Amino acid sequence: MVARILDGKALSARLRARVRQRAEAIAQHGLQPGLAVVLVGENPASQLYVNNKVRACVESGVRSLRYNLPRQTSETELLALICRLNADEQVHGILVQLPLPDHIDVRRVLETIAIEKDVDGFHAQNVGHLTLGHPRLPSCTPAGVMALLDDAGIDPAGKNAVVIGASNIVGKPMALMLLSRGATVTVCHAQTRDLTQHTVLADIVVVAAGCPKLVQKQMIQSGAVIVDVGINRLPDGSIVGDVDFDQVKTKAGWISPVPGGVGPMTVTMLMENTLRAAEYHQSARLAE
Ligand code: GUN
Repeated sequence: MVARILDGKALSARLRARVRQRAEAIAQHGLQPGLAVVLVGENPASQLYVNNKVRACVESGVRSLRYNLPRQTSETELLALICRLNADEQVHGILVQLPLPDHIDVRRVLETIAIEKDVDGFHAQNVGHLTLGHPRLPSCTPAGVMALLDDAGIDPAGKNAVVIGASNIVGKPMALMLLSRGATVTVCHAQTRDLTQHTVLADIVVVAAGCPKLVQKQMIQSGAVIVDVGINRLPDGSIVGDVDFDQVKTKAGWISPVPGGVGPMTVTMLMENTLRAAEYHQSARLAE
């Protein structure tokens, strides 16, 4: 068997064209969706991600405001910027790129972003909505994975799903989204004793561990759906995921490549959330 490809690049192109149409529709009412992207420090990976997000805004008809703050920016200064953006009528989404420097309290920063502008879906209240099964602004990477599965006609209902990685950004919201769609979900993490014991039973594996080649052919069921959220830079400069792609693709039913799988979908879901936030803003304005 050779796995079919979950092509995030192709799906993203289609979805971004739709976002653009929605942006044009609300522009007719004098409103251009706006996303503020805040980067603190010079982390090269974060700079790359932020560049991709700003480029996607151009493609999707979203106005982007980029704030590059020096590494020494104090927490108070960052919170003051977020408060200004919260109050800015032209800004519908606010994204603070993570990780932040150690002297800044991430939780305080995320809780300061107005929930209706929290396009990352990281605010505790948005996480609460997701947990209760009615997300308003779902976090982007897991929402991108769900969109890839839906596009391929893969219904999680009744399936065994294993999520590898329990981060707040990917693993936990991923598990909640799969659960809300009827999957039986197991979350594995750095302290899981025997990963293979879980993955061999999985119909769907989503891996977000940051370990190149963590998922090997002998760890999966024949025909399983393998979604790779990992982005790892090897010493030779190449980018690989968390799955041993060349081996696993000969046994899996579906597999997402890196690059070109989940990565572009994360950015596309950010555009979708920005549009959603702008549309909420517009309907609230019309109701006034
Ligand atoms: N750093 C890594 N992934 C993400 C993400 O999805 N959003 C933000 N804000 N920072 C990140």
